[in-house]
Order: sequence, then structure tokens, then C-alpha cells
Amino acid sequence: MYMTLEEAQKKIDDLTQQIHRHNYQYYVLDNPLISDYDFDMLLNELIAVEKEFPSLVLPDSPTQRVGGEITKQFKQVRHSNPMLSLANTYNEAELEEFDKRTKSALALDELEYVCELKYDGVAISLTYENGVLTQAVTRGDGLTGDDVTANVKTIRSIPLRLQGDYPDRIELRGEIIMPHASFSALNEEKETAGELPFANPRNAASGSLKLQNSAETARRNLDCFLYFVSSGHSLYKTHYESILALSVWGFKISPHIAVCKNMGEVFDFINQWEIGRKTLPFDTDGCVIKVNQYRLQEMLGFTAKNPRWAIAYKYKAERALTALNEVSYQVGRTGVVTPVANLHPVLLAGSMVKRASLHNADFMAEMDVCTGDMLYVEKGGEIIPKIVGVDKSQRKHPAIPVSFPAHCPACGALLIRNEGEAAYYCPNTKQCPPQLKAGLEHFISRKAMNIEGLGEGKIDLLFEKGLVRNFTDFYKLSYTDLLGLERLYVNENDGTERLVSFREKTAQNLLDAIQKSKQTPFDRVLFALGIRYVGENSAKKLALHFRNIDKLMTATHDQLITVDDIGDRIAESILSYFADAFHVENIDELRSFGLQFQLNDDPEQLVLSDKLQGLTFLVSGTFSTPERRKEIERLIERHGGKKSSSVTKQLSFIVAGANMGPSKLEKAVQLGIPLLSEQEFLQLLS
Ligand code: IVH
Repeated sequence: MYMTLEEAQKKIDDLTQQIHRHNYQYYVLDNPLISDYDFDMLLNELIAVEKEFPSLVLPDSPTQRVGGEITKQFKQVRHSNPMLSLANTYNEAELEEFDKRTKSALALDELEYVCELKYDGVAISLTYENGVLTQAVTRGDGLTGDDVTANVKTIRSIPLRLQGDYPDRIELRGEIIMPHASFSALNEEKETAGELPFANPRNAASGSLKLQNSAETARRNLDCFLYFVSSGHSLYKTHYESILALSVWGFKISPHIAVCKNMGEVFDFINQWEIGRKTLPFDTDGCVIKVNQYRLQEMLGFTAKNPRWAIAYKYKAERALTALNEVSYQVGRTGVVTPVANLHPVLLAGSMVKRASLHNADFMAEMDVCTGDMLYVEKGGEIIPKIVGVDKSQRKHPAIPVSFPAHCPACGALLIRNEGEAAYYCPNTKQCPPQLKAGLEHFISRKAMNIEGLGEGKIDLLFEKGLVRNFTDFYKLSYTDLLGLERLYVNENDGTERLVSFREKTAQNLLDAIQKSKQTPFDRVLFALGIRYVGENSAKKLALHFRNIDKLMTATHDQLITVDDIGDRIAESILSYFADAFHVENIDELRSFGLQFQLNDDPEQLVLSDKLQGLTFLVSGTFSTPERRKEIERLIERHGGKKSSSVTKQLSFIVAGANMGPSKLEKAVQLGIPLLSEQEFLQLLS
């Protein structure tokens, strides 16, 4: 069949429109107008024409849903407005308080709320330009996320092109979820293939969005619910109206939404779904209550972390009963041995539970756990489930209590327990493999030496090849040591498998990162050493007080405890750390490699934390004293943030004093940049 470019264009337009419409009928309205076969025929015809005329393939072509290989890493995209989270409440009284607080802030006696379900998946930001989906970005750290557009395009309930009347540019936010049916099918497949299953639908959705091959994402059958329209404020008066608009634009909107005139109706909604949610084909962990009127939302504004116009109500933890297979013992960085119950897999609040912490020997004894017992597992909002009880009525006799081992399960050393402490330790700190590995993980971690390029599985790889057993070994690594190393890595939490390897670029990047780490300030180097009980904060205090490692090493108990926050326990731990010649030799060696063992800066310059890393602030208006403003600016820098002198889209927050200029204020509101009072700013740092 021969076609001119013009004819091809017309054909493509025509087929695209038809397919979009049928997709909508099928996936959104659940009301197909043609058979699957006829649909496939249309799609195949489009594929054929596009193949002939590749220059005519549009980014929103339905053929793009089929998915292809994406090989590059995800691009990092900064959110135009931070993706904030919601404050949580767990009972009616807390919710009543929210209602009171909100009404009093608005000086209103009555307030209309919208109640929605809280979908338990992965937050996503979708940008449509001229009606075409151009970008989909994950929440990430709230400020920057991964560009997962190619993968999101495979989700059938997200239109690639909007219908009806839509603004030129619009950002929508919602939750991508994995329905139970897709979740079980996926896990079954994984188990048959001998792979570890995903722990819950949320992890599975998240893993599926981050796949390198979008054809695989397409197969995972994800779904999406939208809950926020960024430009809603200029188009509609209420949140509810903008959610309704979503359906006109071609989205599936959730039927689990209600406008409530008072708290009685809000509680009705919550109670109805507490039971109703069990019949839903996907996970929800609560409800979200939002002030409906946009005008009122604007008046309420935001705190540093949450909108003041919305709150989440979380349902209570769910419980399941299952059999104990065996208790295994994990050894942590400081040698603490934690008992873990390995369970007969059980579905709990939508996820398969196989392991749960038994905390320590005392807890185990108190619970009176015996081999073969039936245990109650509970899961709240947290990821790691807990054992909360034993069903003794089902106990088989004679029952043998599970006893805590006398020796380290990893290296065989005799375990010790300090007076008055619940934990058992493995004292073999210099040879016990899990302790060494965890120590290395700590050393390179973001708040310590911040050596990037050693993510999931790479430390294991270097450790097992015998290349790194000690901190000093990082600084002896060479390009040839690294090049070509590889190993299969299985993520214990979500069961995903990855080939971990060092190629030209990854090897060089790591060496560069190691080199760069030599500039890490003394307080973080001190924290990186992993001296027991010396956390980030105590390391800072010690660094500030003693100024260099030599003074710290020779400090007496009495000198140590004069430092703020340093008590007997930390002092003893520091003394015994430096009493060990092995540690002193290590430090000398690290020093010879160029690591910072003294504060070379003026204490005014000392970095206090990286709490504001990646955030940009504008300080505007007048404060209690003129010096106060300078102090705030200094605090921003000392906590790793950046200062700006004008209102731009890139700003994260404005610290607003009195009498902020009206033009600045207007622009800030327009760009949706949250304003913080001095108090709220200080809270960010606390
Ligand atoms: S509204 C400005 N509505 O819960 C805050 N969030 O902790 C906008 N979520 O990150 C959020 N269902 O991923 C909103 N109906 C819903 C939601 C919802 C789930 C998630 C969302 C957010 C987290 C809040």
C-alpha cells in the first residue's frame, strides 16, 4: 500500500483518535464498543503506518503504550511545587481537633470538607501540555523525583491525550497503585521463577514504575487515581469541582469521594470505608479529609511539611494469625543480635508477611515463643510488621521454648550482654562479617562520608571479593581492582534482582566519589567511624569542642562529659574505642590518605547539618532585630540550604518576616511557594 506523507498523516490521526476513544471506553468507562480483536486490528494498522513513516510517530501515540527498552537512568526533575505529605491522625478526637483548629483559623462555624480514600501506592505528578502527557515524575524526596514518563505512559487509565476543554498546561497529582489481582499474579509468577516476591502492592507499584523496560511495566497492570489539580484554583472554586473536571478530561475518577457538610458526615464516610475498604480491589490505609473551598485552602496555607487544609485519618493496624517456621538472628553494625520470626506467609492488609521482628531476648521470653507456635502479626503504617502475641490455645505439646543462641550466628563468637541492657552483642567487631559490612555501609552513608556509587549490593560485592574489609581499604582501591567485578543482587525487601557490576564509568565514578570524600568535614568523619553511641549530633558537639582528633583521643572521662549531651555511657564508649590500637592505626592511615581530622574552619562556618540540603530560601521582610535576619540566613547555609534574593519558581520556601513587599508576596502566592514564619523555619531545623 503506497501512501503520501500527507495521506499517512491523515491515516495516523484518524486511527489515533479511534484508538484513544476505544481505550477510554474500555479502561475508563468499562464499556467497550468493539471487540478486542477489532481493537487489535486498529492498533496493528497504526503500528504498520508508523513503521513506514517513523517521522510521524507522536509522543502520545497509542503505540507508545506497548513500551520499549529504556536504557538510561531516570532523569531527575525538580517539582515546580514541592510534593508535600499529609499530617496523620489516628482517632476521632485528633480529627475533631483538626476541625476545630481549621475553623478557628478561618473564623468560621461551618466548613465543607471533601473526603477521599487514601490510596496506598506511589505518588505521581503528571504534566499535560496542550493536552498531551509530556512528563510523569515520582515524588522522590518531595523536591526532585525520577522522570518515569515512558513507564507511566503504559498505564491504561492515564490518558495520553486529554479530552474536552483543558488548560494549555496543567499539572495533576495522584497515586499509582497495583490492584490486588495484578499483585497476586505478579508474585505467583515470581515465585514460580524462584524469585523473591514483592512484600506489598505499594512496593510492587514502586518497583514497576522504576523498571528499565517499559514493556514490563505495561505487563504489570498498574492503575492510577488522581487527587490534586495544580491549576484548579484558577479554574474552579472547589477541590471537588476540579476532581469532577478530571473525568471530563478522560480520567477515571474514584467513586470513593464525598462532600461532607459537617464532622458527622466525615465520620460516616470514615466508618463506611473502614469496613468497605476490605472489599476494594486495591489497598487503602485511611481517608483524606480536605477543605473543599479553594479560597479557604489558600487562607490556611502550608506548614513546612504539610498543607493546613488537609489531613489523613489512618485506619488501625490489621492483625493476622500465622505459623512460626523458625527464628533467625540478624547481626547489626554494632554487633547487636536481633531475633527475627520467619513466618508461614500470610496476607496482612494487602501484603504478604513472611518475617517480623521479635526485638530481643527479653521480648521473646516474655512472649513465651515456642517452636511451631501460631503467632499474631500486626501491621500499622510502618513497613516492618510486629509480632504482638502467641495463640497458646493452638500450641502443640510438648512445647519447646525458642532459646536465644549463646554464640553469634554469623561468626560463632560467644555473645555478651551488658548489665541492664536488653540486647546481646557479638563482641567480634573486627571479624564478624555482617558487622564489618554494616560498618562499611555506615561509613559511606549520606550523613557520614557520603560516598556515592556504592548503592544496593556494591558493598557486598567489594566485601566478598576481599577488596574492602576496613574503611582504609576504600582509599586503596584502584581502577583495575574494580573494572569487571559483578554479582547478582537480590533486594530482600521487594525481591527485585539486579546485576551489580563495575564498568568503566561506574568504576571511575566511585573512585572520584572516594577522592571527593576526603573533603568531608571532621564532624562527619568522626560520625563515620561508627563509635558506639556517637551519633551525628554527638559527633558535631565533640568536633566543635575538641577541634581535632588528637585532643579527642587524649581526653579523659571528665573532660568528655563536660561536652553538651555527652554522658557517661558515650564517654566510656569513646575511651574504649581509642584504647584499641587497631582503631588508632586506622585513623592514622586515614589521615595519611588526606581525610579531615580537624576543624580547619572558623566555628561560624561549621556545617551543622544537611537538613536543608537541596532547598532554596528567600528571607524577606523585617524580623525582631536586624541581626535576626542575618542569623536566619546563616542558619540556612550552615544547614546545607541555599539563599536566593528573588522570588522564582526554584524557591522552596520564603521565610517571611513582617511587612514583606506586596509584589514579592503576590508573586510567591502565584507560584505557590510556601511561606514560613521564623518559628516555622526553626521547626524545620529541630
Ligand atoms: S492529597 C498536598 N489525597 O498520601 C498534599 N494524598 O502523606 C496532597 N495519598 O504523598 C496529597 N491518597 O501520595 C492526597 N486522596 C489522596 C491521597 C493522597 C493517597 C498519598 C499521597 C501523599 C500521601 C500523603
